Amino acid sequence: MLLLLLLLFEGYLQHGTSLDAPQVPGPPDPATEEPLSFRILQTFSFANSSWASLQVSGWLGDLQTQGWDKVLGTMSFLRPWSQGNFSSEELKNLQNLFLLYFHGFIIEVQAFAHQFQFEYPFELQVSAGCTEHAGKASGSFLNGAYQGSDFLSFQGNSWQPSPGAGSRAQKVCAVLSNYLDIKEIVQTLLSHTCPRFLAGILEAGKSELERQVKPEVWVSSGPSPSPGRLLLVCHVSGFHPKPVWVMWMRGEQEQRGTQQGDVLPNADETWYLRVTLDVVAQEAAGLSCQVKHSSLGGQDIIIHWGGGNSVLLTLLCLVVIVTLLLLLVRHSCFKKHSSSRKALAPPTPSPDSPIGADAQGPRTPGHQLYMPQESWIKNRFLEKWKTSLNQLWRH
Ligand SMILES: *[C@@H]1O[C@H](CO)[C@@H](O)[C@H](O)[C@H]1NC(C)=O
Ligand SMILES: *[C@@H]1O[C@H](CO)[C@@H](O)[C@H](O)[C@H]1NC(C)=O
Repeated sequence: MLLLLLLLFEGYLQHGTSLDAPQVPGPPDPATEEPLSFRILQTFSFANSSWASLQVSGWLGDLQTQGWDKVLGTMSFLRPWSQGNFSSEELKNLQNLFLLYFHGFIIEVQAFAHQFQFEYPFELQVSAGCTEHAGKASGSFLNGAYQGSDFLSFQGNSWQPSPGAGSRAQKVCAVLSNYLDIKEIVQTLLSHTCPRFLAGILEAGKSELERQVKPEVWVSSGPSPSPGRLLLVCHVSGFHPKPVWVMWMRGEQEQRGTQQGDVLPNADETWYLRVTLDVVAQEAAGLSCQVKHSSLGGQDIIIHWGGGNSVLLTLLCLVVIVTLLLLLVRHSCFKKHSSSRKALAPPTPSPDSPIGADAQGPRTPGHQLYMPQESWIKNRFLEKWKTSLNQLWRH
């Protein structure tokens, strides 16, 4: 029964103290221009009338800051600054409140499942939190979902069924609206506790949240979209914070076909973005990938297609170096062999006539058969490899 939940909440209110302290907005922070939210996500899975499980996590934007240990019924703090500036006593009160709420919620849902026509197995999700913009609290939210679809929300001071959630959601909202104390607690948590907590963790985590890490940018070609076309890929990786602007350009002109992927997390808490452009192969020359990011201090990174940074060219360089090394190793082997065999072998034939040398040389199996060819390769190609390598280095 909802009455039980109510009693639990009232019990908390009598003992809990600091939930509704007056809120003082923090000082405006020019560095946080993007609106940032703190939210608590709850997923309740109801397998049958006697079995349910729960997952809870706390998030600052895209960063998980809190976890919930189901067994111990305790909040875990995933960052050194995840407690913000709340005292451990206040956190303990909040933790107890959540514990009561989670237990009560499960019991109430199981009791009302039949009346609300919730069919086992089902999943309920709640996302609740608040937003701040430029250092000021700018709103709060509570959304509920049933089986992955929007179901209801808490707006202003009332429960609203989501559009399209049907009469079932209306029924649930009507029942919830009868409980003024629940409303009051939700209101307090959303519009007083949450903004205060958010301001606190933003302040405590400032150095980590606002750290500036420059992106690395490189270009490559993706799988050819169709014959005669190229997929140019611009990789931007290792940057922080998340907002970034990446565009394929021809000179000053933004290429409208530019496709941006999702900004994905790297393991080291920086971000990765892949931006592609599908072009006719002949038109790729002259294109460049341009990157703007707060860490670059207005100095955009521009990487030209086919420029010194293409993966293809790097690979080519590697191939050249490896070939060169192999040739050098073989060359020195050849020297050793030839000196040790001087007494037996005829003089080294002219390097410019490998065929003739081969014909003249003794037809013994083994190294000697290859020696003339190697020296021919050495003389003909080594110089060429060296020159082209030199040219590459100079780029
Ligand atoms: C309820 O679901 C759980 C988990 O799937 C299962 O282990 C349990 O046997 C079920 N109980 C009943 C009464 O169906
Ligand atoms: C924590 O910081 C916020 C914002 O800076 C402030 O409003 C609040 O009074 C501080 N203390 C507590 C216990 O919330």
